[in-house]
Order: sequence, then C-alpha cells, then structure tokens
Amino acid sequence: MTQTLTEMAVDVLTTADPRDKTARSRAHAARWQSARAAGEEIPLGRAVPPLRPARPESPELRDPRDVPKRKPGSPQGRIALLHAVAHIELNAVDLHWDIIARFADTPMPAGFHDDWVKAADEESKHFNLMADCLEAAGSSYGALPAHAGMWRAAEDTAEDFFGRLAVVPMVLEARGLDVTPGMIEIFRKAGATDAVAALETIYAEEVGHVAYGSKWYHFLCGRHEIDPLPHFHALVRRYFKGALKPPFNEEKRAEAGLAPDFYWPLAAETGG
Ligand SMILES: [Fe+2]
Ligand SMILES: [Fe+2]
Repeated sequence: MTQTLTEMAVDVLTTADPRDKTARSRAHAARWQSARAAGEEIPLGRAVPPLRPARPESPELRDPRDVPKRKPGSPQGRIALLHAVAHIELNAVDLHWDIIARFADTPMPAGFHDDWVKAADEESKHFNLMADCLEAAGSSYGALPAHAGMWRAAEDTAEDFFGRLAVVPMVLEARGLDVTPGMIEIFRKAGATDAVAALETIYAEEVGHVAYGSKWYHFLCGRHEIDPLPHFHALVRRYFKGALKPPFNEEKRAEAGLAPDFYWPLAAETGG
C-alpha cells in the first residue's frame, strides 16, 4: 500500500530523532515530487497529526526567559546562535508537515501540497546544515537548552487555517527574513565560511516560504470573499502574542508578496 501524503506527514511528526526526522521528511518529499513529475497520484488521505510533534530527549526545553543569552562575538555565542537556528528549523520541518495533515479536510489545489512539501524538504535541509555547522564547531544539536514555546503558534491555530497561514509563514518566517542578514554578518566577521554559506541558503529559500504563505492566504481569502488586509490584522492580533518588531526587511518581504500595509500597522500598534 502506498502511503498517503497525510501518513507521510504523521510519520515525520511522530519521529523524535532529528536526523531521522529530516531523513524521512526528505525521502517523503522526493516520493511526492517524483510521483507528481510522473503524473501519478499520491492520495492525501486523512491521517491525524499529533497535537505536538515527537521531540528528542535533548535539548532541554525551557521558558524563553530561562534560556541563557550569550554574546554573539564569542565562539560560545556563535554556537548558541547556530543552536537556536537549528531548533527553529527543526520546528519548521514539523510545522510544514503539520499544515498539510492538520487542514486536510479543506480541499486545496495540488499546488498547495507541492509548495508545502518543497518547503518541508528545504526546512529539513536547513536543520541538517545547522546541525553540521554545530558538529564542525565541536558542539551538537541538543547540547544547549532551547525555547519551549516554539510549537505554541501551531497549537493556537490548530483549528484555524487562515490563522495558521497568517501567523506561521507571514509573521514568524517573515521575521526570519528581517534577522538573517545580521546573523550572516556575525559569522562573516568571524570567518566562519561554512555557517555563512548555510545561512545564505536558508535566507534565499525562506523568501519562498513566506511567498507560499502569502499566496495561499490570499487564495483562501478569495475563495471566501474575505478582504485579506483587515482579516490578516485581526488574525495576527488574535493569535500572535509578541510584537512585530521593526526594522523590517521591506525588500525581501516585498519579494515574498508581503506588502508594507500588512505589517506596519501592527508594528505601530505594539509600540515597535
Ligand atoms: Fe528554514
Ligand atoms: Fe521556512
């Protein structure tokens, strides 16, 4: 029996070991992509995703306030930064498979699944790149504590497809576009060429993920004749607890189809 796409998603979500998770994710993505290229249909199915994905025993997950901050100018600080990005990427792998399985009851064009499978594959590559950099620096993913709140956005929007698209790709991943250039600079100054190359790959591919979010958010709004802009503001106010912090990477956000009137009013309101 061929695995359905939602079964593949649940397989990734219920795998705890990070390298095993990303290997499965990449293998499932390759299966989906080769089937699509050959014109074969992999059914979506209705496998139910867990409320929370399986996680390894380490890293220890702590409240963000209890994760020690280190100066990025030191080797330890750079390791902590790579570790934080690795943790974000691992959660991103699960977030991208989760959206496929979580909202499988909403009929979507096959292009939606193509986009999210591709993004999940890229997140898996991103995690592996960060884990490789950590190992090359004498550390590893799991060696430091990590943020416990990373799955919060997924739980908060588990019943709201619009909310998921608004908060995850269009707020959280868009935030990645704002902060990654500064991170690349830190590693460039330190002469860490492997980390620079890895972060440049991540930076380039994340533009696509934000664009997928914007594209499918607008698609759903169009289907339901909803005005995208005020609805987006309402969703972010409802589901996103933090502040939208300028400076924004307006150029890359624009490339991803995110217009300034989507985010600036929310930044002003939260006091910037
Ligand atoms: Fe990523
Ligand atoms: Fe992403």
